[in-house]
Amino acid sequence: MLTEVSATRYITPLREGGSLPGLVEADDLGTYVMKFTGAGQGRRTLVAEVISGELSRRLGLRVPRLAVLDLDPAVGRAEPDEEVQALLHASPGPNLGMDYLPGSLGFDPLAYAVTPEEAGRVVWFDALVNNVDRSWRNPNMLVWHGELWLIDHGATLTWQHNWPSVANAAGRPYDASDHALAPCRPDLRTAAGELAPLVTADLLAEVVALVPDAWLTADDETADPATLRARHAELLLARAALVSGNITVGEPTPVRRPAPPGWLVAPAPRRAGEDR
Ligand SMILES: Nc1ncnc2c1ncn2[C@@H]1O[C@H](COP(=O)(O)OP(=O)(O)OP(=O)(O)O)[C@@H](O)[C@H]1O
Ligand SMILES: [Mg+2]
Repeated sequence: MLTEVSATRYITPLREGGSLPGLVEADDLGTYVMKFTGAGQGRRTLVAEVISGELSRRLGLRVPRLAVLDLDPAVGRAEPDEEVQALLHASPGPNLGMDYLPGSLGFDPLAYAVTPEEAGRVVWFDALVNNVDRSWRNPNMLVWHGELWLIDHGATLTWQHNWPSVANAAGRPYDASDHALAPCRPDLRTAAGELAPLVTADLLAEVVALVPDAWLTADDETADPATLRARHAELLLARAALVSGNITVGEPTPVRRPAPPGWLVAPAPRRAGEDR
């Protein structure tokens, strides 16, 4: 079971996130980033957050603690933004909470070095869950207390949006050329040797059991929660056996800082005798 807490105060929207996550306080005195069941991305993104987030934690990667955060929309009554109000009113009951990492910074490859070993583990894991949202444009990683933390696993397990196509998903290749850690020369061979044996049927059963039933009963869902959990676990088990040979990194996109504005660039020193 994930920890269950109740939201007591809606603090502010986090403007960076496409799904309009909010910062909330809860009755355990924790501060959480809250992701809403009523967001346009739908409940399946929360299913992906739990399965991928908890799986990556069990593979030794750093992910902030997750919780089920019960919401009474009245806790946000002081929030003036109508879009936020609509989101809160569309999301009563269990939502997703993630421990807020105060003072964390968005990952910047020019400011924080990741070893090939760590990069390999992250890329291998992202390939396993088919994460399509950890590119250099939107790294979805934070640096906190000098360490790398993974966030935002909503865009993983993409096959759940089209279960009839699932037959091909286990062997589907993963192109990591755009991955935020591609320039770190990820050591995929070592990562595969370490991580693939850890992805067992027992581990996956433990992870899929953490998803609340309420998120597995979307209106357009055609199967019951137990069947959906079993599908996720079976697919990840099959994919773990195949994915190591199906990852391409290619030529990493070079990381460049945007050129500084002209007024910031010091003029070149004039040589003696040069015309004014
Ligand atoms: N646990 C956390 N601690 C501190 N800041 C966080 C945390 N989770 C998210 N954030 C901040 O909020 C932003 C949005 O979060 P997140 O990426 O999870 O939302 P999203 O709506 O799924 O975003 P998108 O789909 O646009 O990438 C992050 O880029 C980060 O700046
Ligand atoms: Mg994000």
